[in-house]
Amino acid sequence: MGEIWAVILAAGEGKRMLSRLPKVLHPLCGRPMLSYIAGSAAAVAGERVIIVTGRGSQTVRKAMGPRWKYAFQEEQLGTGHALMQAMPLLPEEGSLLVLCGDTPLLEKGHLEQLLLDHRGNAATVMTTELADPFGYGRVVRDCSGGLLGIVEESDASEGQKKIREINSGTYCFDIKQLQLFLPRLSSANVQQEYYLPDIFTLIREQALPTGICTVGEWQVALGINDRRQLAVASEIMRERINASLMLQGVTMIDPSSVYIDYDVQIGPDTVIMPQTLIQGRTVIGSGCCIGPVAQIIDAEIGDGVSFRQSVIEESVIKNEARVGPFAYIRPGCTIGPKVKIGDFVEVKNAQIDSEAKVPHLSYVGDADIGSGANLGAGVLVVNYDGRKKHRTSIGRGAFIGCNSNLVSPLDVGAGAFVAAGSTLTRNVPPGALAITRTEQKNLPGAAERLLDKAPQQQEKGGAKENG
Ligand code: UD1
Ligand code: CA
Repeated sequence: MGEIWAVILAAGEGKRMLSRLPKVLHPLCGRPMLSYIAGSAAAVAGERVIIVTGRGSQTVRKAMGPRWKYAFQEEQLGTGHALMQAMPLLPEEGSLLVLCGDTPLLEKGHLEQLLLDHRGNAATVMTTELADPFGYGRVVRDCSGGLLGIVEESDASEGQKKIREINSGTYCFDIKQLQLFLPRLSSANVQQEYYLPDIFTLIREQALPTGICTVGEWQVALGINDRRQLAVASEIMRERINASLMLQGVTMIDPSSVYIDYDVQIGPDTVIMPQTLIQGRTVIGSGCCIGPVAQIIDAEIGDGVSFRQSVIEESVIKNEARVGPFAYIRPGCTIGPKVKIGDFVEVKNAQIDSEAKVPHLSYVGDADIGSGANLGAGVLVVNYDGRKKHRTSIGRGAFIGCNSNLVSPLDVGAGAFVAAGSTLTRNVPPGALAITRTEQKNLPGAAERLLDKAPQQQEKGGAKENG
């Protein structure tokens, strides 16, 4: 069998996606769809994986990175023509897996099965049966079950269109035979393309052995040509991700409403509540409670964290912190151990040390909050002066009364006390009390007089608006 190589055909235009993004880069559970098949190919062929790019070649190469070898197909003249572009990069002999860039659900195990079934053949095709085979190449067998040929939808007769066994677009070739037969493909068909599957007829005509590797799971064949198929594949991938996490000890109350990206990691005994999205390269520890209705993007979350009805992006939450409901943690934050971030709190580019509390209705931007500090309801860090952002720091154990404005740049010392409703523009030394309120005046009887007038005003027609 010799060395195993893989070529992934990914140069097609993907016309049916109606997109400016090359089809094979459309994301599926947080990664370009091409990266799944490339990963499966690498699992059996190591670094001997060649990707054929064409439309949007530079974009595809940039997204996929230097791990792969690349061939270039200038004009999209069909799958056979695409494979021809990779031939100069291949050795004289060995086995070659040929895969489509648009079949992300094919896994390593399927390729191993194909390699086994291929032994002794010049060429082997992976097939499966579909309830609705429309659009796929149909597998035509002879009376003894051998492969006669593969007919594309547009070239199929009415009888052939009824065949439910389809070409998955995944093949294994003996490289020597491939070098012989590939140049003989012709484009004399309805689409005037060099169809790779036609090679099976050519090989059979020379009485060389061809084989069929039939797989039970139709998903392996799901080629994503349009966005409906993208949605179907996403759903299947999502089920696989959720199943694997549940088998690793993660509880999901309703897996059908949980959307977790492929690269996310979650520790055991974490409970994921319904309507939750966990995206990008997020890592979550064990014993957490996440959701309901949460969105977590590229975040790192420790153990025992509670994160309810909230959004977090590119930030870190340490052990046993509590966030939400209804908090928004924007990029650049570190929320320390046992910190409480409560309802309607927005935090951005801030460091909040252990056991500090920001329980209600606050904005904390560009700030460092010391451990055990307490920010009352409605405390706002005024970090932007209309031109520049400035930073505020609050020392450990400081107490900031409700509805205070901290105009940055500002230092509030450790253990300081800021009276409610203060607007601070100058630093507060450690242990000091700061107060900026105007003095309260009480006018005896004034309220009664004011209220006595109220019924008259309503008669004048203000009633509707007061409701
Ligand atoms: C192809 C097969 C069909 C099979 C189906 C499985 C052919 C002629 N038909 O049809 O039998 O059932 O896949 O999904 O092969 N590509 C290139 N260069 C090209 C054309 C295509 O690189 O010039 C790439 C595409 O990017 C794609 C793959 O080859 O990743 C398959 O091409 P696509 O146009 O999707 O073929 P299908 O019509 O789906
Ligand atoms: Ca396809």
